[in-house]
Amino acid sequence: MKKVGYHNSITRKLYLSLALMLSLSLSSYAQEAAPAATATPADATAAPAASSGGDAVKGKEIFNTNCAACHKLDAKATGPALRGVGAKYEKAWIYKWVHNSSDLIKSGDAQAVKVFEANNKIPMTAFPQLSEADIDNIIAYTMEEKAAAPAAPVGGEKVPGTDANTGGISNNVILGALCLVMAILIVMLVLVNNVLRKVASANGIDVVLKEPKISIWKAFVKNQFLVLVSVIFLMLSGAYFVYGYFMQVGVDQDYSPIQPIHYSHRIHAGSNGINCNYCHSAARVGKSAGIPSLNVCMNCHKNISEVSDTTATAEYSKDFYDKEIAKLYKAVGWDKDNQKYTGKTEPVKWVRIHNLQSFVYFNHSQHVNVAGVECQTCHGPVQTYEVQKQFAPLTMKWCVDCHRKTEVKMEGNEYYTKIHEQLSKKYGVDKLTAAQMGGLECGKCHY
Ligand code: HEC
Ligand code: HEC
Ligand code: HEC
Ligand code: HEC
Ligand code: HEC
Ligand code: HEC
Repeated sequence: MKKVGYHNSITRKLYLSLALMLSLSLSSYAQEAAPAATATPADATAAPAASSGGDAVKGKEIFNTNCAACHKLDAKATGPALRGVGAKYEKAWIYKWVHNSSDLIKSGDAQAVKVFEANNKIPMTAFPQLSEADIDNIIAYTMEEKAAAPAAPVGGEKVPGTDANTGGISNNVILGALCLVMAILIVMLVLVNNVLRKVASANGIDVVLKEPKISIWKAFVKNQFLVLVSVIFLMLSGAYFVYGYFMQVGVDQDYSPIQPIHYSHRIHAGSNGINCNYCHSAARVGKSAGIPSLNVCMNCHKNISEVSDTTATAEYSKDFYDKEIAKLYKAVGWDKDNQKYTGKTEPVKWVRIHNLQSFVYFNHSQHVNVAGVECQTCHGPVQTYEVQKQFAPLTMKWCVDCHRKTEVKMEGNEYYTKIHEQLSKKYGVDKLTAAQMGGLECGKCHY
């Protein structure tokens, strides 16, 4: 009888400690999530700091239109960082410098020559049109205190991790939680082992070294609660990996995978009006449209290391976007502080979204160039996509339907005039669809 009582109290202790650990792990997770939920968008516009007679708000505007192309407040760009420049030089000197720095340098001004030589002798644009009051305003802006770190991201913490995971809790958190549960289980097993040993020796039973191992197993199997927890754990992790597998394979309409860099077509092709051809130039001339190399990105991004405040949306903060550009820098090995390549690169593996079966032949230039079909007809309003996705079903029916109803553009196309005459006689029509041109022949699309 005594034995059984002892055993019961131990099991109770085990239950208790397991429950305790589980609740601890849950509450620590809840704490992680809590600040995110309660975070309110911080006030972006810091109050203008008291400064020597300029208006920092106006200054910011003038700075953004004239100087931001080469200067940042806190980091080196083409020109040096400008925060606090009002304290560094006399005002009169700054007026002269901004109005025409090369004149100042030519005049032999020692300070000007020094600045020029310290910055690789890159000439700065002259701004004779700016009044001294304008420059005062700029100086006032540069004399503002740097915004405290937590105030900088606008509604920032809402963005789930830097993994660009738009689907809620990031994968890392889930994996972490699973690992934690696993660790708890292991600790539990060790505890059970120790307790059983102690029970045995308390009862004066000699523990043969092999026996406890078997009895741990038995204790585990008997303890239905532990078994239940482990089964749930196995099922959850199984489901997680199966889901991941299907997401990878499931090439389907609206398929929209998470890319290694959150690259937004809305911002590039939409707001900034960059032509599709700038990056997908191969679509006009070849079979594939191609994904641009990172060098193409750096044509612009040597100078664009952060997005403007107005680009941030409720869903994605400025802080989030800036971190994505930092990923680009890391991948191409760009050191933005010193404005040079470090030579350390790592490839970015874009996840392919559109993927026809290998037995189908599709050619971009045939459609874009010869047939004059707009990218958007097949890919949807790409310029509005924050995250790229597959718009069309890419089924055989989809191709064939379009071939049936799309007329081929014959005008001004010498290659077609002769065929056009022959075929229109054959079909007794004036206009020809892609289907009548042979666009329904199996061999045209199938190897
Ligand atoms: C075309 C690029 C460019 C533009 C635009 C530009 N700067 Fe510059 N600026 C430079 C460069 C480069 C230097 C470093 C000196 C040199 O090499 O000439 C510099 C240096 C300066 C300096 C000296 C900074 C120091 O710490 O020594 C001041 C002040 C300055 N710029 C103010 C301005 C202001 C104000 C504007 C806007 C009205 C402006 N710059 C626009 C390129 C530019
Ligand atoms: C500044 C460069 C750039 C411009 C401009 C651009 N794209 Fe892209 N595009 C990319 C990059 C990088 C990717 C790969 C990452 C992704 O899928 O978001 C991509 C992916 C795509 C994809 C999916 C490719 C796949 O994996 O199947 C399509 C379709 C596409 N772009 C169409 C367009 C269209 C249409 C336009 C013009 C409205 C356009 N792009 C403009 C850079 C660009
Ligand atoms: C023709 C110029 C240009 C090219 C080429 C270009 N970008 Fe950008 N990119 C911009 C501009 C401008 C912004 C900032 C927009 C703003 O502040 O509103 C930007 C913003 C971004 C951002 C932050 C916003 C977002 O989309 O998540 C990322 C990340 C980015 N670019 C990555 C890339 C990558 C990767 C490539 C190459 C495939 C590329 N860019 C090519 C001009 C360009
Ligand atoms: C007639 C429909 C159609 C038009 C028009 C079209 N595409 Fe595509 N696009 C496709 C199909 C189908 C695929 C999948 C091809 C594959 O998997 O081999 C694709 C794939 C892509 C890809 C993925 C990478 C690659 O090279 O295959 C990009 C990027 C792309 N298109 C960009 C564009 C751009 C940019 C334009 C306009 C200049 C355009 N597409 C016009 C149907 C079209
Ligand atoms: C938006 C309408 C549209 C869609 C969708 C479309 N096509 Fe086409 N396709 C055309 C037109 C128009 C032509 C005629 C181009 C020409 O003048 O040769 C054409 C021509 C072709 C040709 C050449 C036919 C010939 O006579 O030489 C092939 C091959 C082809 N398409 C394959 C495909 C495949 C594969 C798909 C689906 C993945 C597809 N197309 C989807 C409009 C479309
Ligand atoms: C305009 C292009 C086009 C033409 C013409 C065409 N196919 Fe297809 N076919 C496709 C595409 C695209 C797929 C891939 C569909 C998918 O993956 O869902 C396909 C898939 C198939 C499949 C695989 C079954 C399936 O749905 O995945 C068969 C079989 C097939 N085609 C037979 C034919 C035959 C027979 C003809 C001639 C009568 C023909 N195709 C003409 C584009 C075409």
